[in-house]
Amino acid sequence: MMVMNTSTAAVNRLIDRFGRVHNNLRISVTDRCNIRCVYCMPENVEFLPKQSLLSYEEIERFVRVAVTQGIDKIRLTGGEPLVRKDLPRLVEIIAKIPGIKDVGLTTNGILLAPMAKALWDAGLRRINISLDTLDPQRFLELTRRTGVEQVIEGIHAAKAAGFDPVKINAVAIKGVTEADVVPLAKFSREYGLELRFIEYMPLDAGDQWERGKVLFAAEILDLLSQGISPLLPDPKSDPRAPAQDYDYIDGGGRVGLIASVSRPFCMSCNRVRLTADGKLRNCLFALNETDIRDLIRGGSDDETLAKALRDSVADKWEGHEINTARFIKPDRLMHSIGG
Ligand code: GTP
Ligand code: 5AD
Ligand code: SF4
Repeated sequence: MMVMNTSTAAVNRLIDRFGRVHNNLRISVTDRCNIRCVYCMPENVEFLPKQSLLSYEEIERFVRVAVTQGIDKIRLTGGEPLVRKDLPRLVEIIAKIPGIKDVGLTTNGILLAPMAKALWDAGLRRINISLDTLDPQRFLELTRRTGVEQVIEGIHAAKAAGFDPVKINAVAIKGVTEADVVPLAKFSREYGLELRFIEYMPLDAGDQWERGKVLFAAEILDLLSQGISPLLPDPKSDPRAPAQDYDYIDGGGRVGLIASVSRPFCMSCNRVRLTADGKLRNCLFALNETDIRDLIRGGSDDETLAKALRDSVADKWEGHEINTARFIKPDRLMHSIGG
């Protein structure tokens, strides 16, 4: 393997045809999950065999190369990343790579409570926890499993370990989520959590998605304004992040709206994704992938990996076409992309 000098800052930037600079790599570490959210996975799903997954060393190799191309931000996703053995070890490996400024994790929180401190100690600083409802019966209906109490314990443990902010992700589905909007907002205000609602996207199992099933950001703002307090757009909201942040005018914190369907943010996208089986995707909705695992296992040198990454970004389309008749749903479901 070629030895790289990773102590120097990246000399390259991953810029696509639309001028978007890509610095953010989302790495799925497993397609497995300990729950079965209806908007994400079928009840019966065949998971990847273990040998298909990139090892931690293979992930490290790719991240070291990606850093030389301009990647400085990593988010670990799944399936559920905490079901992968010894995740803090991977966090530590990545956090120590020169040039990596930020390591985050998106988790369903079920296994988090006993691991929160180890993750913090390993260098994780950003954590997003999925929670669609506080009600055990509704949790069971949405996830087809029990566990809301463990998620709540996980949230408290993340706070106690030092994570700030702790972000809560709730998928917004029409006819389902309305009843949870105000309870989740009250809970988040009480414990100082940053709640975000995500418009339901067509990456679910069984072709259940249709536009009429999306609870739109504007509708959520109305529910919050009526049930809690009016909100105003936060002028400091990061224009490159999917969430548009709003502040409660009563000073009780803020809430984020990820309006992927009603207000796509593709023109400011800075992300690429690596699946658990080592496929590089230049968009959440990409129809083509680049097989990084084959390159690594076939003995490719670092420049070949770097070129594969550059080519993938160069080939990126303008954005998803959910709102058009041209939309084609990718073969991969959410749980094997990682969000
Ligand atoms: P930070 O901004 O780093 O806190 O993370 P994030 O909000 O981008 O990540 P998270 O994993 O919490 O994702 C929240 C929601 O945003 C999930 O439903 C993701 O699928 C969605 N999301 C993340 N990145 C993209 C993207 O590039 N495009 C679209 N359409 N949705 C995205
Ligand atoms: N639409 C929107 N968000 C989704 N997530 C999973 N499936 C969907 C979907 N179909 C969210 C999860 C998690 C994040 C990684 O993606 O709730 O917070
Ligand atoms: Fe698991 Fe996350 Fe998919 Fe739910 S959304 S089934 S928590 S991977």
